[in-house]
Amino acid sequence: MKVLVVGGGAREHAIAKARKRSGARIYSVMKNRNPGIYRISEEATILSENDISAVVSWAKGRVDIAFIGPEAPLEAGLVDALEDAGIPSVGPKKSAARIETSKEFMRNLMEKNGIEGSLNYRVVENPEEGREALEEIGDFVIKPIGLTGGKGAKVFGEHLKDMDEAVLYLKKIFEGYGGGKAVIEERLEGEEFTLQAFVDGKNLVPMPLVQDHKRAYEGDTGPNTGGMGSYSMENHMLPFVRGDEYERALGIMKKVVAAMEREGTPYRGILYGQFMLTSSGPKIIEFNARFGDPEAMNVLSLLETPLTEISERIVNGELKSAEFLKKATVCKYVVPEGYGIKSKADVLVEVDEKAIKDEGAELFYASVNDKGGEIYTTTSRTLAVLGMDDDIEKAEEMAERALSHVKGEVFSRHDIGKKELIEKRIKHMEELRRNPDRTR
Ligand code: AMP
Ligand code: GLY
Repeated sequence: MKVLVVGGGAREHAIAKARKRSGARIYSVMKNRNPGIYRISEEATILSENDISAVVSWAKGRVDIAFIGPEAPLEAGLVDALEDAGIPSVGPKKSAARIETSKEFMRNLMEKNGIEGSLNYRVVENPEEGREALEEIGDFVIKPIGLTGGKGAKVFGEHLKDMDEAVLYLKKIFEGYGGGKAVIEERLEGEEFTLQAFVDGKNLVPMPLVQDHKRAYEGDTGPNTGGMGSYSMENHMLPFVRGDEYERALGIMKKVVAAMEREGTPYRGILYGQFMLTSSGPKIIEFNARFGDPEAMNVLSLLETPLTEISERIVNGELKSAEFLKKATVCKYVVPEGYGIKSKADVLVEVDEKAIKDEGAELFYASVNDKGGEIYTTTSRTLAVLGMDDDIEKAEEMAERALSHVKGEVFSRHDIGKKELIEKRIKHMEELRRNPDRTR
């Protein structure tokens, strides 16, 4: 099977590897040359992933099916255009991708259909409405309704020091940032987790739970980032999530899929639920219309069912099940010095690929410039390594050994997947369950 892989990050490297492993031939479209994807592709072209007509005309006659990695081309209508050209795609159409691309659509869909897991929110589009909502909700988070590359959510008391800063941020949004409208929602306290699923329009097949780490520095401090690393456990659960809480989260995802079908915008592709587990259960922070990055690396490394088979079932509406190895995974990103504030771009990074492989670990390239086989940083994340073993301790050690084979002006979070940080999460949830009043 010939497959088009759209996107050039570590997530797409993970998708391409999983497809290759299941016997597919890879044809890739990316905006910068990812050396990992490039190497395993039959053919690759450097194109803007959002240039819909260029991508479709390159794909036509070359591939049998497409797999879309990032959200921007979904919003631009790439799946609609590929399907018009006779290429079935794993990824939602533009109208269904609104579950991610419009937070207004997402919150309204949940409310209209009475789906649990939503929260107190208001959509505002001018300063008067904004002020009113800020006062009404009190302890709030402000988000532009549209895409901002993961940088749009600002939490009161953290990113926004006082009301003046909140009003100023709303002004920036009303002037056009992230879609011109804002969602103001109550701030939740809890622990975040990710539930991803394959969806064929009707049926949903869940993947193992993963926890990402958004903050740049150890101990969950520093600026928010695209994600510094993630882990998953051998039983496919997370140690701070109870079975009944998992079932509720899965129920929310299934109800959203059913509601999308009823609305005439059936959802096909990967559905990503970002949950906040609170003392009153799991709540939706956001949905993504694609794999998470880094969460894709965890689940795709575990996937035993061929991704080619799953992809075909998704586009044909015949999804049944997916098998994952019963192992733990720890993924750690390597990022340029200064990442999160001002990255040190264009510096050489030495990557000993063979040594990483000999450790048994996986390597995923992200945003790099490959100059004649030498790897240079850009302003974004550089690469990720993944350790996989029978338990989290061993998986974490493998990831750390892999990191020792990457050298340069870069850094990683060494605390991800370590016992200390995981215990902190367990304790936090135990404390919240004991004192539910603290959860808003
Ligand atoms: P988002 O862009 O919606 O994924 O939000 C980015 C980050 O902001 C999340 O991962 C959370 O850590 C935080 N956040 C977003 N919404 C809320 C909320 N309602 N309550 C508390 N934290 C939030
Ligand atoms: N890991 C967060 C995201 O992919 O949006």
